[in-house]
Amino acid sequence: MLRRPLIAGNWKMYKNRDEAVALAGALKEGMTAKGEAPADALVCPPYPCLQSVGDALQGSPVELGAQNLYYQPEGAFTGEVTAEMLLSVGCSHVIIGHSERRQYFAEDDETVNKKVKRALQAGLVPVICVGEVLDERDKGITEQVVERQLSGGVQGLAAAELAKLVVAYEPVWAIGTGRTATPEQAQEVHAFLRVKLAGLYDQELADKTRILYGGSVKPENVAGLMECPDVDGGLVGGASLKADDFLKLIYYKG
Ligand code: PGA
Repeated sequence: MLRRPLIAGNWKMYKNRDEAVALAGALKEGMTAKGEAPADALVCPPYPCLQSVGDALQGSPVELGAQNLYYQPEGAFTGEVTAEMLLSVGCSHVIIGHSERRQYFAEDDETVNKKVKRALQAGLVPVICVGEVLDERDKGITEQVVERQLSGGVQGLAAAELAKLVVAYEPVWAIGTGRTATPEQAQEVHAFLRVKLAGLYDQELADKTRILYGGSVKPENVAGLMECPDVDGGLVGGASLKADDFLKLIYYKG
């Protein structure tokens, strides 16, 4: 298989520590019972729960990621965290440029690019999020938007540095709305992003980069999305907050 699927849970600003540990424990238990999964699994809890969720996942294949970082190596930046801090509590991945960060915290492509560089320098795998808002889709400029976000996010980076890159295509109109992109809509944009990666770098990088779909992924629609040749997994919000649902996504083949 060219690309092993990845099912990533973005817990956003949900779960206090005890709830987070309980969810992690249920995921570990479920995966132990079900055995080998057809996909890699990743969870991205809020910062205060990272350490304890990591502890609760010990001995399971589920990897740990954060939802953000700051691009400075350290300093007087109240409220921010560094890549090294995330590594020190067991993170291997970090979500960068989620649409909620772009929308509510004014992150632009330049900020995303700085964060991606910092993550890679530190040895974290960046999960770069791109996606159009409804108005952009209606105007027919989805491709321009995601192309700008992708090329802006990886600007100045060499193919070798991006060997483990994960891209998440998340149409903003599908996030938390219950309105999923159809498999055809997802495949179209994923294929476009892969062609763009080949153009920015080479076919080898394009072929090995996992492109996740995000936006109301749930047990009922995961199979159709995963059948698309360029959909390599999901970045999942709501359905990652319940162990049963998230396990169904990890074991999407039934
Ligand atoms: P959702 O969120 O699955 O709740 O739509 C996805 C995301 O924002 O990553």
